[in-house]
Amino acid sequence: EIGFFFPPEQTLAVIKPDTQHKEVILDEIRARGFTVSRLKDTVLSREMAEEFYKEHRDEPFFGQLVDYMCRGPCTMLVLTKENAVDEWRAAMGPTDPGEARETAPESLRARFAKDILQNAVHGSSNAAHARDKIHFIFGDISSENELICDLEAEE
Ligand code: PPS
Repeated sequence: EIGFFFPPEQTLAVIKPDTQHKEVILDEIRARGFTVSRLKDTVLSREMAEEFYKEHRDEPFFGQLVDYMCRGPCTMLVLTKENAVDEWRAAMGPTDPGEARETAPESLRARFAKDILQNAVHGSSNAAHARDKIHFIFGDISSENELICDLEAEE
């Protein structure tokens, strides 16, 4: 049998502040075949949120986005899967939940997002961003010392 092999890839996913049903979202993530390789709850400082979203600093909504992202704990995740960056973006659905409900009703944003700002989840937009943001949030994973919870390993 001839098949294609895609090496596993990692992406940074965030469950945003005040999102309801975080546990359901985590179950969904695993049901869709992602390995939760790292998980931590972090309250971002303003400076960290500004750095995290620096690609959007010229957008009119930048201030609102930064305020929102540091108003409570974010659940930060490293997700591992073949083609993880694109697969996670597909699982989230479009940024705007109105559009998500129209075009991707099974997606996480269609089901869990309130509006375009409080849209439940974030994911890196490409492999280079994924690498940078994983490093930004988790540091050098191979040498990190803080509390790490590998959900897959616990099951
Ligand atoms: S993306 O992923 O860069 O293609 O998404 P984009 O549509 O450019 O949106 C980037 C993030 O900005 C947030 N956003 C907004 N916040 C408030 N008001 C408005 N109008 C708005 N438009 C976009 C949106 O939630 C995206 O956040 P993330 O965390 O990337 O999903």
